[in-house]
Amino acid sequence: MRYDKAVDKRVAERRADMTGNEEESSTKGLHVCPAKHAGWLTISLRKAINNPTRILRGLAKTGYTVVDLGCGPGYFSLPLAEMVGGTGQVIAVDLQAEMLERLRVRAEAAGLASRIRLHQCAADSLGLEASADLALAFWMLHEVPDKERFLKEVYAILNDDGRFLLVEPWGHVSAVEYRRSVAKATAAGLKPLKRVRVGFSRATLFERGDVMMAEVPEHGGGGLQ
Ligand SMILES: C[S@@+](CC[C@H](N)C(=O)[O-])C[C@H]1O[C@@H](n2cnc3c(N)ncnc32)[C@H](O)[C@@H]1O
Repeated sequence: MRYDKAVDKRVAERRADMTGNEEESSTKGLHVCPAKHAGWLTISLRKAINNPTRILRGLAKTGYTVVDLGCGPGYFSLPLAEMVGGTGQVIAVDLQAEMLERLRVRAEAAGLASRIRLHQCAADSLGLEASADLALAFWMLHEVPDKERFLKEVYAILNDDGRFLLVEPWGHVSAVEYRRSVAKATAAGLKPLKRVRVGFSRATLFERGDVMMAEVPEHGGGGLQ
């Protein structure tokens, strides 16, 4: 297991130049993964459980625009940038400035910074305009306070053929809670296509469907779960 202390050090150096208490105010009252623990999300051992290339193979293609929601330090953003190539783009979204800073340091070191656009959002709004081929929400939806609103925004940033991969951790999200989230995604217009096998996780692939709210059952579809 390798924990990258060099990223911690460079982020700390850049932080020293920052003023104010921006980080604390962006997460106040929220249960989010603290940026100071972010190094654990990129340890090499994680590849044995969540191999990004294997999970995203066939979903992220050359030239695609992919939105990595709640990107953290970019465990998925960097492999995604490789997969979309020089003609594609990754939009990495997080509410914590320090997570984005960690990602920036790692992307620069990997020579991938030009393919990754960083976007700091608010807890209650993505504030993002995009026409994405793929959106990924990996181990983050359970941290979002208003899931209905968030999932409607996910629907809005996808293009007509866009797909959405939702992955939640077993440890933090019960089967019942997960089914509720799938139902909320369905109500937002995202059609569940299939369950996906991801280590220590519950995962569903959705496609953007036509929003016909009248047809959505009161408790959502979520039929594949
Ligand atoms: C457990 S980490 C997962 C990071 C990354 N997806 C991964 O798998 O390595 C959850 C991330 O979601 C972010 N997050 C939480 N709530 C959010 C929200 N409402 N909007 C955007 N990002 C959010 C946190 O700041 C944190 O970086």
